[in-house]
Amino acid sequence: MTNETTILQKLSVPFEFPVVFTHHVFAPENPVLRDTMNRLGENRRHRAMVYVDSNVAAADPGLTGRIIAYFRSHAGEIELVGEPEIVPGGEQIKNDLAGVKKMAAAMLDHRMDRHAFIIAVGGGAVLDAVGFAASLVHRGLRIIRVPTTVLSQNDGGVGVKTGINFPGGKNAIGTFCPPFAVLDDFQFLLTLPDREWRDGVAEAFKVSIIRDRAFFDELCRNAPRFRARDFEAMERLVVRCAGLHLEHIRTAGDPFELGRARPLDFGHWSAHKLELMSDFSISHGEAVAVGMLLDCEYAVRKGWLTPDEFARVHTGLAKSGLPVWVDELERTRDGVLEIFDGLREFQEHLGGELCVTYPRGIGARHEVHEVDLALMQEAIAKLKSMAAKE
Ligand SMILES: NC(=O)c1ccc[n+]([C@@H]2O[C@H](COP(=O)([O-])OP(=O)(O)OC[C@H]3O[C@@H](n4cnc5c(N)ncnc54)[C@H](O)[C@@H]3O)[C@@H](O)[C@H]2O)c1
Ligand SMILES: [Zn+2]
Repeated sequence: MTNETTILQKLSVPFEFPVVFTHHVFAPENPVLRDTMNRLGENRRHRAMVYVDSNVAAADPGLTGRIIAYFRSHAGEIELVGEPEIVPGGEQIKNDLAGVKKMAAAMLDHRMDRHAFIIAVGGGAVLDAVGFAASLVHRGLRIIRVPTTVLSQNDGGVGVKTGINFPGGKNAIGTFCPPFAVLDDFQFLLTLPDREWRDGVAEAFKVSIIRDRAFFDELCRNAPRFRARDFEAMERLVVRCAGLHLEHIRTAGDPFELGRARPLDFGHWSAHKLELMSDFSISHGEAVAVGMLLDCEYAVRKGWLTPDEFARVHTGLAKSGLPVWVDELERTRDGVLEIFDGLREFQEHLGGELCVTYPRGIGARHEVHEVDLALMQEAIAKLKSMAAKE
């Protein structure tokens, strides 16, 4: 006879964090950072360490001086612990576990406790690596993200994940760790290289195609302005796109990705593969543009999008300066299109069952569990023939 007792534990922990859009976040007269650190009304002097992306620091040599001055001019309420630390910008920081260990050790050395702040200023890669380190120390310090690329301001930087690369793959280890706050300062976008500027536009198209037709219309109208680096159009894009991301994470019922569906990965099964196949000479946004087009053309063949809707996606991406074709799409190994490996890899990443998001009309989506490779091959041929005509 068995004598078992089960107590079913059930926890629900609300998370709340502001995403503030601002300019000149480290100008002494801008209260946003100070007020954000004070937002719980704790009535004490808050300690913070600051990490800065090396390429952001190089593009703006006065930045670290302004950060130091900001803390000085609000010294009654906030305190900077040590000098701002410059860390390698871009993906290399995510390939360096020793760097994460060094950051965690410095946080402990400075006796940062669970109420102290880690402020990360940089692209998505720096936010991911610094956030990862901060989420491990004492099981999670308060992290304030200051994203400096379009992509991190409107996509990764407003989410709840951290991570680094590992021999198991990209983002193979990481944590779910909602930030204390996100401060999007548009001023940082001015020093972005053209490519990084465009990459964030692709993700905006992505979220509009599966969630918001009016936003999609606006993106199509503004496409030439994005290409021309129109600052005002980009500000609107960032706010709308970040808002849609936040809404998705809040309302789709699965903020910590326990289920299979990953709607925000629309267009990404092939995008990840294209990046890898090109040895990362194709950037993430470029790969997402092509990956979305591939899935949109497939959707036309399935009757989920009209040819007209596909044409609008194609024109919108092209006019924004994004690619609509890359040769990797037709590369074969042993007579089989290599891109198809991307589907299998995506399936493995999801943990077994394939679940791919497709648009159903512009602004809505659905999930499918199998993909017809013959139709997909036709879609590739169609993209190629369209590219040849241009
Ligand atoms: N945590 C998440 O939920 C999530 C979501 C999406 C993406 N990501 C991750 O984000 C990373 C990509 O982020 P990204 O697109 O921001 O690229 P990135 O962080 O690699 O930055 C691109 C380049 O621009 C430089 N840079 C950043 N800001 C600059 C500025 N203002 N001026 C001049 N140069 C600047 C960086 O140093 C880097 O060299 C990937 O590692 C990806 O896995 C994470
Ligand atoms: Zn993406």
